[in-house]
Amino acid sequence: MAVTILAIESSCDDTSAAVVRDGHILSNLIAGQDIHMSYGGVVPELASRAHQANIVPVVDQALRRAGTDVEEIDAVAFTRGPGLLGSLLVGTSFAKGFALAGDIPLIDVNHLQAHALVHFIPEKDGMTRLPEFPFLCLIVSGGHTRLIVMKNHLDMETIGNTIDDAAGEAFDKCGKLMDLPYPAGPLIDKLASRGNSKAFSFAKPKVKDLDFSFSGLKTSFLYFLNDKLKDDPRFIEKNRADLCASLQETIVSMLISKLIKASQLTGIKEIGIAGGVSANSGLRNGLALEAEKRGWNLFIPPLSYTTDNAAMIGIAAYYKYLRGEFTGQDVAPQARY
Ligand code: KG4
Ligand code: ZN
Repeated sequence: MAVTILAIESSCDDTSAAVVRDGHILSNLIAGQDIHMSYGGVVPELASRAHQANIVPVVDQALRRAGTDVEEIDAVAFTRGPGLLGSLLVGTSFAKGFALAGDIPLIDVNHLQAHALVHFIPEKDGMTRLPEFPFLCLIVSGGHTRLIVMKNHLDMETIGNTIDDAAGEAFDKCGKLMDLPYPAGPLIDKLASRGNSKAFSFAKPKVKDLDFSFSGLKTSFLYFLNDKLKDDPRFIEKNRADLCASLQETIVSMLISKLIKASQLTGIKEIGIAGGVSANSGLRNGLALEAEKRGWNLFIPPLSYTTDNAAMIGIAAYYKYLRGEFTGQDVAPQARY
């Protein structure tokens, strides 16, 4: 019998709901929150209020687009963490209520595991190329920069992590210094395509093993800009594309060099990227070249699955359902999970 799951994602500033049947995505709705743009970053209190306003309409639309009745849902899944606690509470509470009302199982999902599992979502044409295990994945977003090894769908080990900021944070914070609105990552990517990536160079910190560090880059970028602005107050305006291209090149090369090191240390050549920053064209193109050179079997997610979405929560929940891994009404979200 088919298994139909309603999945909810509310860990940061996107309210998302998806209906997943036997691992196939029937619908995946995402409501973003423009309110954070003028603040230069996500304001947690405003994010949870917006989730509260969005959650019912988003779930309603997801069910309608999937052509599914509430009675057909076999389980409801939600992001338990990591994320902003106030945001997680909205999705968790909604899912608990939905499970109780329908007398159906509740499934808690780890947001990071879900990001990596986008590579296991089958395409509609049935021609999906799936990674084999062990699978090495770089999860790179506004909140995380992590290298993980997946031994199966639900067993993941972290082998590298950021010791300070995430890569997406570096894009966003440096973008703010160039007067770009939040989130600056996609804009930097766009501007970089018109710039010279060799125009400026920024120091790359040396971090041990497979860990990352991005806070030093933000500081050196700030000092560099202040220095240049003393001589020419219009320096940023005049050099925006070159600044973006050089900054992107620096961040991307830091990410790629650790991924190469991780592949060499583990011997794994099944390699993927996931998370918001995996939308970056510099990272996608750079990795495609490395994959060809190094014989990697590379997995790059479709753009629609790079940022936070409930489809990834649904696919993770499907594998948990198959294993009978459910949770109880006493479950609580965890900001650090
Ligand atoms: O996964 P995500 O939607 O949310 C988190 O879990 O953080 O990632 C959002 C992050 C932001 O920092 C945003 O600037 C970055 O992903 N981002 C990009 C691009 N698209 C999104 N960074 C660089 N280039 C992009 N094209
Ligand atoms: Zn995320």
